[in-house]
Formats: sequence, structure tokens, C-alpha cells
Amino acid sequence: MLILGIETSCDETAAAVVADGRIIRSSLLSSQEDLHRPYGGVVPELACRRHVEVIDDVVTRAVAAAEIALSRISAIAVTCGPGLAGALAVGVSFAKGLSWTLGVPLLAVNHLEGHLSALLLEGQELPCPSVALIVSGGHTVLLSLTEKGRCHVLGETLDDAAGEAFDKAAKMLGLGYPGGPIIEERAQRGDAVKISFPRPHLSDPSLDFSFSGLKTALLYYLKKLKADERCPDSLVPDIAASYQQAIVDVLVEKTVRAASREGVSDVVIGGGVAANSLLRQTLRERLEAEGKKVHVPRKELCTDNAAMIAAAGYRHFLMGRFASLDLAPQPDFPLPRVMGSDP
Ligand code: KG4
Ligand code: ZN
Repeated sequence: MLILGIETSCDETAAAVVADGRIIRSSLLSSQEDLHRPYGGVVPELACRRHVEVIDDVVTRAVAAAEIALSRISAIAVTCGPGLAGALAVGVSFAKGLSWTLGVPLLAVNHLEGHLSALLLEGQELPCPSVALIVSGGHTVLLSLTEKGRCHVLGETLDDAAGEAFDKAAKMLGLGYPGGPIIEERAQRGDAVKISFPRPHLSDPSLDFSFSGLKTALLYYLKKLKADERCPDSLVPDIAASYQQAIVDVLVEKTVRAASREGVSDVVIGGGVAANSLLRQTLRERLEAEGKKVHVPRKELCTDNAAMIAAAGYRHFLMGRFASLDLAPQPDFPLPRVMGSDP
């Protein structure tokens, strides 16, 4: 069964063809990084217009790259939310039109469910029971997945998402967008204990996160450097390393705590920030020391892509969860109650 996945929730226009929910036949994306770089973050109106301009081409090329005729597609899976309203509307409208034209079912996928489904593309099942950490530019959420795949939120960010914290730091340092990969790269040459940044909410027993205080701490640190007439340029690697370490420490600590409280031995991570090497390695070390296992997709499947949406859509198809043609984009689309369970 061939599922066409379409993803336009933020700043990537992505399309993919996935066979049987796990074999990637093609996966393409048109990145808008250059478009948003001058602003240091995603400008929703620009994102939306660019999706309109390129979606037809991206989908056409994805189908061609899969070496199939469009008529071979069995269903169309599209990100319905959460995300930017206008950006989602482009993908959803395109998917509805194509579903009607081809006479194939439409599948409405939650973007976060998509991130977790990236694991299926690695030939793995979503382990249940488990704890899942989804960390992206828009979300930082810890989930508990029960034995039957029922999902409930253990904790989430009270303000900025972890990816946003990376992006805003890079913007303050004048390093460009998206911030995560740039901060990670600069951090490699820096000393992570040089600057003491706060670990917000770490001592708080709740599993919620907060990153705005960390961002403010960086802002004040940079202001102080300026007041002292010191140039931050030579300090960028140390700043990047110390800042990255603060984010990773909080994410790891809360995830380890969640796994222990829930009594599970499997932890899944996904979302763009899960591409961060320090996070992947630290979480692996901490959990393996406790005899637990971390499941993380390869890096290019952590950041936004449409193959993960097709993989999630495949499960919807098997469970008979079809969307109708009056499907509307839902910027605050709730997580499905059941994830990853056997259909
Ligand atoms: O999941 P994603 O591609 O898009 C959203 O759903 O938001 O995540 C994008 C976020 C951005 O904030 C980006 O800076 C961050 O993921 N990111 C990283 C890395 N690669 C992407 N953060 C830290 N380290 C990375 N290597
Ligand atoms: Zn994402």
C-alpha cells in the first residue's frame, strides 16, 4: 500500500511516498530556511505564501521520485495540526483536492504523532508502555504511552519550546536560523562549564518545562558583555556550549524522572531537537545506566518531513480512521487518544 504524505505545518513543504507504512519510496522537502533567515524565525505569512508556490512541484517530484504513477497512491495523509493556521491550510486543501480527484481516502495526522511515527520508518514499533519526549520548534512535551498505546501528557513547556530557545539564542548571537544546528556546531569548540546558565524548573518536581528564563539569562549576559565593552564573538563557542548544556540537562533530567515515575524501561524521542547529538548521547548514557532503552530515529527523520506523516497515516488507514472532505486545518489539533497500538 502506497501512502502519499504531505506536511506543511511550519516552514518546510514536504511530500513523501511510503510503502506499507515503513518503506520510504521517496521523501522530498522544499526548505524555507533562506526565506526566514533574515528574521531569525518563521514569518507565518511568508511561510504560507511559499507553501502555495511550491506544493504542487514538491508533490509531483515526490511521486516521480517514487517511480510510480499518481494513480497507484492508495491514500493521502496530511498534517492537520498543530502548526501555523495558514501553512496547514495549504497542505490540507491540496490533500483534499487530490484525494477527491483520485478517489482515495484522506487521513488527518497530528504533527506530533507524525514525529513519533518516524520510528516506524526505522523498522521499529512504537514501544508501549513507554515515555516519549517530543522536542521541536513549537513543542516540548513528555508523554506517557500505556501498554495499549493510550497517551497522556505528563508535562509540557509553560512558555517557549526547546527548539525556540535554540532559535532565539542564535538570533541574539546573530548566528542565523534555524538556531539548533548552528548552536550545536558552535558548541563543539566551546567549554560547556564556562558560563553558568540557569536550569529552569529543574528542582521543581513537576514534569513541566520552562525555557524563557534561560533565554532572558542569555540576553542579560550579552548586555553585560556589551556594558563591559567586551566583544562576544570570541566567546560564542563557550556561550553556545553552556547554553546547549543547560537545555540538554533539563530535557534529560525530566525525561529520566518521567521514565522512573512511570516505571517504564523504554523511552522514545522525536522532533527537530532530537537531532541534537548531545541530547541523544546524554539521554542514551543516563537511561542505559539504568538498564533502560532509548529509541530515536536517525537525524533526518527527527526534523520535519512527510515520510513520518505517511507512516502515521498508514496506521490510521488500518484502523479505519478516515477524514472527510470537510476537514479543516486545526492549529491546536489534539493528540489522538491512542498511538502506535496494533490496529
Ligand atoms: O520538528 P521540527 O523540524 O519543526 C517543528 O515542528 O518545529 O523542529 C525544528 C526545531 C528548530 O527549532 C530547530 O532549531 C531545532 O528543531 N533543531 C535542533 C537541531 N536541529 C533542529 N535543535 C538542536 N540541535 C539540533 N541539531
Ligand atoms: Zn516538527
